[in-house]
Amino acid sequence: MAATAAPAGNPAGAPAPYHRIRLQPISGSLGAIVHGVDLRQPLDAETYAELKRAFLEQLVLFFRDQDITPDQQVAFGRNFGELHIHPFIPSLKDHKEIIVLKAKSGEEENLRLANAWHEDLSYTNDPPLAAILRSVNPPSRGGDTMWVNLYRAYETLSPKMQAIVEGLSAWHDVTHTYRRQELQMPGGPERYAATFKKAPPVLHPLVQVHPETGRKLLYVSELTTTHIEGLKARESDALLQFLFRHIDWKELHCRFYWEKNSIAMWDNRCTAHYAVGDYTEPREMHRVTVLGKVLN
Ligand SMILES: [Fe+2]
Repeated sequence: MAATAAPAGNPAGAPAPYHRIRLQPISGSLGAIVHGVDLRQPLDAETYAELKRAFLEQLVLFFRDQDITPDQQVAFGRNFGELHIHPFIPSLKDHKEIIVLKAKSGEEENLRLANAWHEDLSYTNDPPLAAILRSVNPPSRGGDTMWVNLYRAYETLSPKMQAIVEGLSAWHDVTHTYRRQELQMPGGPERYAATFKKAPPVLHPLVQVHPETGRKLLYVSELTTTHIEGLKARESDALLQFLFRHIDWKELHCRFYWEKNSIAMWDNRCTAHYAVGDYTEPREMHRVTVLGKVLN
C-alpha cells in the first residue's frame, strides 16, 4: 500500500511516500489515521521506520480496531523508548507501565487533570516523549480528545510576539489543578502539601526547540502553568491568558472520536491535548507513556 500525506508538522516540506502504511489526515493542522498496521504483531523494521517518520510529521497517529492485550500495548510502546511509571495515577494490575484512566462520566472528579489544554507531566523536569492511549470502554457518544499543534501555535504568533515570548520561562505546578473544594475537604491541605513536596514546581522555557525536528514550539499548559518568571503578576496573568486563548484557536487543532480499541499516539513534546468532558457514561482508557527526548 503506497500513499503520501502532506506533513502537518512541516506544511512546506515535500511529502515523502509511504510504502508500508497509509495515512489519512483528520485535520489541516495535525493528526492522521494510520492504515495497514496490525499492532498485535511485532513491527518489522520498515514499518517501524515509517511509523517514526509519520509520528514526527503528523504529531498524532491514530489506529482503529486494534484489539491488543496489555502485553502488546507495552511491547508497542517499548519500540519507541523506555516506559514511564506514573507517580499519581493508578496502573493496571500486573502491568505497572499501563495507567488506567477511568471515569463514571465527564463530570467525574479525575477529569480535572484532563479537560484543559496540557502536555502530560509538564510539571516534571523531563516530560515524556509520547503517550499511547487505547480506548478500552468508550462512551457511546462524546468523550472525544483534541490536540493542538504547538509548532503552529508558535509560528502563527507575529514576529514581535515571538520575540517577547522567546526569552521567557514559565512555572509548571501540578497543585494548580487542585480545586478550592478539594482543599477544604478533610485531609485536603495535607494531600496538597504532599503533592507539592512530591512534585515541586518546575521552570520550562515558553519557546522550546524540538529535539528531533529542530522546530520551535510554544510550550504552555492551561492545567499547570501558573506564572511567567520575572514578570509582575498582572503582566504574567495577561500574557498567559492570551497564550491560552491562542492555543485554543480552532485552526491549530484536531479532534478524534474514540471507538472501542482505537489508539492515539501523540508527540508530547510538540502537542497539547484536551479531553472533552461531554460524556455521561463510564469510560475506560489505558495509557503507556514513553520516556526520553528522542525516539529509539
Ligand atoms: Fe493528558
